[in-house]
Amino acid sequence: ASSHPQMEEVPLLMGSNCRAKGAAPGFKVAILGAAGGIGQPLALLMKMNPLVSVLHLYDVVNAPGVTADISHMNTGAVVRGFLGQPQLENALTGMDLVIIPAGVPRKPGMTRDDLFNINAGIVRTLCEGIAKCCPKAIVNVISNPVNSTVPIAAEVFKKAGTYDPKRLLGVTTLDVVRANTFVGEVLGLDPREVNVPVIGGHAGVTILPLLSQVNPACSFTSEEVNYLTSRIQNGGTEVVEAKAGAGSATLSMAYAAAKFADACLRGLRGDAGIVECSYVTELPFFASKVRLGRSGVEEILPLGPLNEFERAGLEKAKKELAQSIQKGVSFINK
Ligand code: NAI
Repeated sequence: ASSHPQMEEVPLLMGSNCRAKGAAPGFKVAILGAAGGIGQPLALLMKMNPLVSVLHLYDVVNAPGVTADISHMNTGAVVRGFLGQPQLENALTGMDLVIIPAGVPRKPGMTRDDLFNINAGIVRTLCEGIAKCCPKAIVNVISNPVNSTVPIAAEVFKKAGTYDPKRLLGVTTLDVVRANTFVGEVLGLDPREVNVPVIGGHAGVTILPLLSQVNPACSFTSEEVNYLTSRIQNGGTEVVEAKAGAGSATLSMAYAAAKFADACLRGLRGDAGIVECSYVTELPFFASKVRLGRSGVEEILPLGPLNEFERAGLEKAKKELAQSIQKGVSFINK
């Protein structure tokens, strides 16, 4: 953890006129896209996380308002806001964890891949800033299409010479959160007691819930397997359609992102046995169960035994993933 909080005057620093003692020891976290539908509730949840000592909120619009608002919460983290590209470097300097929910969300009828043209450039610019200002930070990529934006981030970091596969993680936690909820409903269990590994990627058929590995152990009829697999794969679209043009999942996503960020921070702190699913650099990119630790991803856990349905799903997922990865890689190297 960074134990020397920076107390220099930075733009939009809130509460700079009081006799602040400075932040308690803890981690420094930046949210890029903090004024958005995901960014705002995520900022709220990270301000409530006792492991966070400094919270930087960056966006190209509305960062001062969100920062003023969040900064009034009487929790430990010191909050600072940063508005627009000229303040990106200040927002990133010294950060331990950077969470990226910047970019446009889907509207009904769109796939995540339809967002590529806009979000690819946004993720590139933000990652160039990370490579320059906090190359050792853990990076959590939320911006869609995750299957391509994580490879984009990797290529930017490779070009800058700062690439560390242990520190770059695509956030697929919402798929796991949804899977736990829907499986809990079918089994009549408290969703907090259910754990469904979800592997592959974060779009359509690349989202592969391993229903044969649900904890607590259980079995499903083939009807239940089809229903659950389809509902988990299309959970995002369910929300996009219900919001009818007003965006995609933001609240459940902020919850999932805060949960995943907390796991990353506990890993950084040195807690043992932190296992989450995440889209990481393997095969060359693949969502797997990973063990988190002081350096980020310390171990990629084996997939475990798959049944025939899951093996067939895996083949489909890999085919689509290969294209999405290639699209991200060529965006940077064209
Ligand atoms: P939003 O449009 O409400 O917010 C996006 C924010 O990003 C806005 O405040 C905007 O000003 C900001 N932004 C745009 N360009 C920027 C730049 N260059 N630098 C910094 N900030 C910038 O969108 P929402 O609903 O918050 O979604 C954000 C992203 O998260 C979308 O790409 C969406 O597809 C993705 N998403 C990912 C999920 C996942 O499971 N990984 C689930 C749900 C959404």
